[in-house]
Amino acid sequence: MKIIVVEDYQEMSKKAAEILIKKVHENPSAVLGLATGSTPVGLYNELIEDRQKNGTSYKDIRTVNLDEYIGLPKEDKNSYFTFMCEHLFKPLEIPNDHTHIPKGNTTDHLEECDRYEKIIESLGQVDLQILGIGSNGHIGFNEPGSSFTGNTHIIDLKESTRQANARFFESIDDVPKQAITMGVGTIMKSREILLLASGKAKAEAIRGTIHGEITEELPASILQTHPNVTIIVDKEAYSLCE
Ligand code: F6R
Repeated sequence: MKIIVVEDYQEMSKKAAEILIKKVHENPSAVLGLATGSTPVGLYNELIEDRQKNGTSYKDIRTVNLDEYIGLPKEDKNSYFTFMCEHLFKPLEIPNDHTHIPKGNTTDHLEECDRYEKIIESLGQVDLQILGIGSNGHIGFNEPGSSFTGNTHIIDLKESTRQANARFFESIDDVPKQAITMGVGTIMKSREILLLASGKAKAEAIRGTIHGEITEELPASILQTHPNVTIIVDKEAYSLCE
């Protein structure tokens, strides 16, 4: 694991953008694995700024997202589809058919998991997977106890995850109880992984990820066994590692 400790969220976002932009320059048709949530927003803004200044092209990039809530139509303002369109796909003008996110409102969620796993397989390997981390150590929506070998599946969200994400919804009752997520096994097949973490709320999970026992109770701890992981972490998130 390569650990890069930075001052704050802004520096984390800039460093991550440098790595991602370099990857896109080296391989304009790279497959990027993408995350939602607050953590990658600064990174995505940096990519948009760089594209405006330097004209980096994303027209040949292919993307696969980690997860989607079950029960929200894709047009819902809180769906990860809407999040990605607003924060990244539209501003970078990535062609629609190059972007992939699980569908959270089909009639058969199990079939959707199979379909999504096959899409990921058909793209070959994910060249660079961006990850945030939950304060309970989840990656994607693989909550504590998720199998290290799992592929795309339905997950019951932990109450703490629903509480953490309630800030985006009108009330906690509106936060979906389930999601479709790439499995830890799927994530581990990526060629390279870039995990970002900022703020005190992530400090315990980061300590476990870097120094803890490798256990399904802390899903991110499996990253210790991946051959090409970089963690960019700000001082607050790194504070329990010193
Ligand atoms: C989002 C995802 C989650 C988040 C994690 C942290 O696609 O897969 O693992 O990365 O819940 O969320 P934030 O960044 O909002 O703290």
